[in-house]
Amino acid sequence: MGPALKPLVIVGNGEIAEMACEYFTYDSDRDVAAFAIGADYIKASALHDRPVVPLDELASTYPPDLYDAFVAIGDGQLNRLRRRHVEGCKAMGYGLASYVSSKAFVWRNVEIGENCFILEHNVLQPFTTIGDNVTLWSGNHVGHRSVIEEDVFMSSHVVVSGFCRIGARSFLGVNAALAHQVQVAADNFIAMGAVITASTEPDSIYQGNPAERRGLSAKRFCRVRD
Ligand SMILES: CC(C)(COP(=O)(O)OP(=O)(O)OC[C@H]1O[C@@H](n2cnc3c(N)ncnc32)[C@H](O)[C@@H]1OP(=O)(O)O)[C@@H](O)C(=O)NCCC(=O)NCCS
Repeated sequence: MGPALKPLVIVGNGEIAEMACEYFTYDSDRDVAAFAIGADYIKASALHDRPVVPLDELASTYPPDLYDAFVAIGDGQLNRLRRRHVEGCKAMGYGLASYVSSKAFVWRNVEIGENCFILEHNVLQPFTTIGDNVTLWSGNHVGHRSVIEEDVFMSSHVVVSGFCRIGARSFLGVNAALAHQVQVAADNFIAMGAVITASTEPDSIYQGNPAERRGLSAKRFCRVRD
């Protein structure tokens, strides 16, 4: 047995933070000690019987030598909000945990990065790679040899066929389907139910069957402020 894992501070206090607290507490080796969020966003001093502390006091109250962090934030600003908090935690010296459901199917040689949130009934086939800060909500299929780049948010029941690549920061809506060897470019918004038959252009929205590119920037659609 290795050394005990550090308890966690969850960054966020919305629904995803509450979900992360639940999953880490009841389906991982980690305890959740507290939540942290910018002082202006604190709604109550406690959540699920844990303190909610301002982010600028985090390092003094829950120091990084004793605690790791998990950033539990959704796809806001096409995943940039979550990325910013990941960078903030790293700058403070925190190690970042990943959660992988005990009910996910993860083949032995799958690589999974830090601050990933991989829920029940995801199937990660042999030789797949999941980059840092990726959320795979429940029930996705990631086919053999496919690569999910950093900061992607995949909702539920997405089928990624074999040898695909999903570009950084892209969002994939429920029930989207990707053909074999397709490359989704960075900063894509793939609508629910979209059938992606060919590789896509960066910063674009695709919807329909077969999917077509909508004449609107995905960054603009998701109100990105770089
Ligand atoms: C793409 C999306 C954001 C809709 O955006 P929108 O443009 O604001 O939606 P609107 O309702 O104004 O629809 C615009 C048009 O696109 C059509 N449309 C909307 N969503 C569509 C979809 N997923 N596939 C095909 N057509 C769609 C609408 O019917 C409408 O058509 P019309 O102009 O002929 O009437 C939404 O459909 C979507 O896919 N959201 C993701 C949902 C999801 O997976 N959430 C995950 C939760 S974790």
